[in-house]
Amino acid sequence: MSGSVRNVLAELYFKTLRIARQPAYALRGTRVALSSRIEGGCVLVRSCVGRYTYLGAGVYLHTTTIGNYCSVAAGARIGGMEHSWWWGSTSHRISPHNSDGKPTLIEDDVWIGSNALIRQGLHIGRGAVIGAGAVVLRNVPPYTIVAGVPARPIRKRFPDEIAERVVASRFWERRPREARALLEGITFPPRPEDPDR
Ligand SMILES: CC(C)(COP(=O)(O)OP(=O)(O)OC[C@H]1O[C@@H](n2cnc3c(N)ncnc32)[C@H](O)[C@@H]1OP(=O)(O)O)[C@@H](O)C(=O)NCCC(=O)NCCS
Repeated sequence: MSGSVRNVLAELYFKTLRIARQPAYALRGTRVALSSRIEGGCVLVRSCVGRYTYLGAGVYLHTTTIGNYCSVAAGARIGGMEHSWWWGSTSHRISPHNSDGKPTLIEDDVWIGSNALIRQGLHIGRGAVIGAGAVVLRNVPPYTIVAGVPARPIRKRFPDEIAERVVASRFWERRPREARALLEGITFPPRPEDPDR
């Protein structure tokens, strides 16, 4: 067996182990691509995780589809129950009106900061960034950075013409080496200066 085939098989074996060692209660009805990485303590309910995505420790996903090349920092919560505050009780033991069924969509290459909360039913556009601790109550357009409670846009990641070139590359459909090469063909503006950093 050639070295590269052996490497691919070894990687597959370790990725399978990594997903298989999650306790069953933590992966209820969820599909995770083998190339994605899940740290300990995640709880994933009726969700779907794309390729090359990273979920930090203690991430909670409920009825969420998350794309390729996303980075979700520790403690982020996406989707989950909305309790019936307008009815006689909010308790899941009594209320027939609680809802956890609205699907949430996180497109490719989204970065979600530590302990952010994204309410169920929202659509987070490709390439968006969610600041640490944000509470996201509205859809987020592609390539937009939002932060705060409630989350508000703070800036665009790049000028629109550059975002268009990134989108045209469709790098998120490629393997990492090819994806990086596609992005290296685009000139990005330098990171804005921050005098305090
Ligand atoms: C959202 C984020 C990416 C923005 O980074 P940035 O563009 O360098 O932001 P800046 O420091 O220039 O801040 C821009 C403004 O947004 C505010 N802001 C930035 N991050 C914020 C946050 N998480 N919550 C609330 N406000 C925030 C700043 O106070 C500043 O406001 P001002 O213009 O009124 O002073 C970054 O702050 C962040 O939250 N990163 C996540 C870090 C993390 O969770 N890492 C875990 C490992 S993956």
